[in-house]
Order: sequence, then structure tokens, then C-alpha cells
Amino acid sequence: MYSSRFHWDLQRNRLTELLAAKRGQGARILDLTQSNPTRAEIEYPEELRRVFDDPGLLRYDPLPAGSLAAREAVAGYYRQRGHAVEPGRILLTASTSEAYSYLFKLLADPGDQVLVPRPSYPLFEYLARMESLEVRQYPLEYHAGWAIDIDALARAITARTRAVVLVNPNNPTGSYVKRGELEALMRIAAERGIALISDEVFSDYAFAADAGRVTSLAGVEDCAAFAMSGLSKIAGLPQMKLGWIVVAGPARLRAEAIEKLEWIADTYLSVGTPVQCAAPRLLEYGAAVQRQIRERTAANLAFAQQALAGTALEILAVEGGWSITIRVPRVRTEEEWCLELLDRDNVLVQPGYFYDFESEAFLVASLLTAPEEFREGIGRIVGRTARY
Ligand SMILES: Cc1ncc(COP(=O)(O)O)c(C=O)c1O
Repeated sequence: MYSSRFHWDLQRNRLTELLAAKRGQGARILDLTQSNPTRAEIEYPEELRRVFDDPGLLRYDPLPAGSLAAREAVAGYYRQRGHAVEPGRILLTASTSEAYSYLFKLLADPGDQVLVPRPSYPLFEYLARMESLEVRQYPLEYHAGWAIDIDALARAITARTRAVVLVNPNNPTGSYVKRGELEALMRIAAERGIALISDEVFSDYAFAADAGRVTSLAGVEDCAAFAMSGLSKIAGLPQMKLGWIVVAGPARLRAEAIEKLEWIADTYLSVGTPVQCAAPRLLEYGAAVQRQIRERTAANLAFAQQALAGTALEILAVEGGWSITIRVPRVRTEEEWCLELLDRDNVLVQPGYFYDFESEAFLVASLLTAPEEFREGIGRIVGRTARY
């Protein structure tokens, strides 16, 4: 009866089951997996409530790429970061996740492959399968810092590879693409006729400046490239449902990509008029939300570094983003650690295997967590795991 896309095991895992049981018993859980800014004690500016008080939103003038005013606001966001992006190269989507689906439709046929980083964000398998594509992984290697294994990436390319996905900075490793890596990737992409797709939703969240880092692929000219971002992370506003794609690369490829992306967008016209009308103000007031998130993640990182110093635990080097990865003793599996922490200490963290870490034992914690909860949770993790 139904499509073969849905081959996933939808059973709840042991951690989710234990969490439901604990919550059912009324336990107060210290949730160090909170990645939803609207539930993390962030103060949203009052003005955000009024951005939809606009007569313009009663008029429907659908444009596949999105309204010019909204795209100009997005262009302004890039201008502030030193990237000249004209609105004609921007296409609005309802989210970055939707942007992935548009780009996969643009670039690939059913059965084709996309390369994605490992470890990384676990949604790729779903995003690709929904478009009937296969995912192949390329490794990020850790040696006191994360780096793309370019040789392994090149070896993973087959005749059916259509794109390489970069998550910049990556989630949860917090590692940025470096200039040397981008040069190598552009060369490979141009030679093999494949595109680079850069997910830049966490790009504004660096903990320190680094001139060797790439902040956006919006200005790439040497190969087909697409930069994606959205309000969900840059303004802490996932509920507004506004993302975008910036089309980069050689002019000839760009023009064709824009035409085809508009065709895809026209099929759905999924971005609501209210959020397009409000986009300039959402970006403006969202800057205050971003500032709070930056302060929160930096303070939580500093606390965790201090709390773990001199223990058997290690925070892997992190350049940006909203997460930390903690290496814990391998006397238990990641799953056993997570279950024990939840069961005995009421602390919820994610096991590294959720993100496909190559080896054990890593725990992933969200730096977005409200400060008190984070501090208490980290303290309990240290108490439980550091004595081995
Ligand atoms: C790397 C990365 N990209 C994209 C998203 C989703 O963003 P959006 O809400 O715009 O779909 C997430 C959400 O956690 C993410 O971690």
C-alpha cells in the first residue's frame, strides 16, 4: 500500500523509554539535551510579538523565490558578515530542512548518493531517503581538533554521487571548515561535477575568531555551491519557519540552478506571507536573541571546562555551535552511561552514537541548557563518571 521510504525502526529506544517512565513517576530531570531555544529560558524581545501587526500580510502575491523585501533583508544579514550576496541569488524556504529537500531534488535522481559528514547531525538519513537518495558518509578525524579526511571523502565519491554536504560548523563537534579544506573540496567538486551544500545554521556561534576558518560558501565561484541558513538558529526562532538557500558557483551554473529551484519552490509555495513580511524585523530583533544564546553557550562551555579540568573526563576541542562532546571512561558503553545517569542522577544527555561517532564512549550535552540546570547536570556527570 505505502511507499518503501519508511523502512525505519520507529520503536522507542531504551533511553526514551526510561525517560518516559521517570517523567511518569514525576522525577525532575536535568535535561542537557535541550536544543530548542524557545524552551531554554531565553528572553525574547517584546517587539517580536508585534512584528505580525502589518496590513501587508493580508495580501497574497506569491513569488517562488520569496518576496524581494525578505530576500533583501537576508542579503543584509550576509552584508553585515562581509559577503556580498544579491537578492537574486537567495531563495526562501520554510526551514533549512526544506532547503535540503529542494537541493536534493535539484541535484539528484532517485538512487543517487549524497556524501555527509560523520559524526554529524542524525537527520540526513531521513532527508535523503525522503527524496529516494542514498547517504554515504565521509569521516571527520579527531586529533586535538576535528578535520575532514579529504582523501577518504574523495574515495567515497562514486559515479552516482551528486553532492557533498558540509555542516559548518558541524553539529555536535562544533568544528568549522578550514580554508585549505575548502580549496581541496572545491577542486574535487569541480573535477567530479558535483555540488557542495553548506549548512551554516550555527555559523554565527563561534567561541573565538580564527582567520583560517570558512564562515560561508556564499561567495564560492569555482564549483556549484549552495549555502543554507535560517531563523531557527541564527535568531533562535525555529517556530517562525523561515530558512533560505544562497546559490553560489560559476554564473552559468548559478542561473540554471536558480531557475530550477524556483520551479521546485513554485510547486509548493510553502513560505507564509506573514513571516516574509516580518523577515526584516525578525532578523533585527533576532539579533538580541542570538546575543543571549552566544552568552549562554560561552558561559556554559567555560563552566564545563572548569568543572572537568583535572578529571578523567575530556571535552573535545570545540570551535562553535551549541554542543559539547565529553569523552567518558570506556568502562561502560555510551548507552549504559546515559541510562545510568538518567536512572541514578536524573540527568539526560545523548550518547555519541546518536551522531554516529566512530568509537565509544562520548556523551553530547547542549550548551543551550539553562545555566542552573546545566551546572547541576555537569556536576552530577562528573560525580558519576570521573572516578574511573
Ligand atoms: C546542523 C543543522 N542543520 C539544520 C537544522 C534544522 O534547522 P531548521 O529548523 O531550519 O530546519 C538543525 C537543527 O538542529 C541542525 O542541527
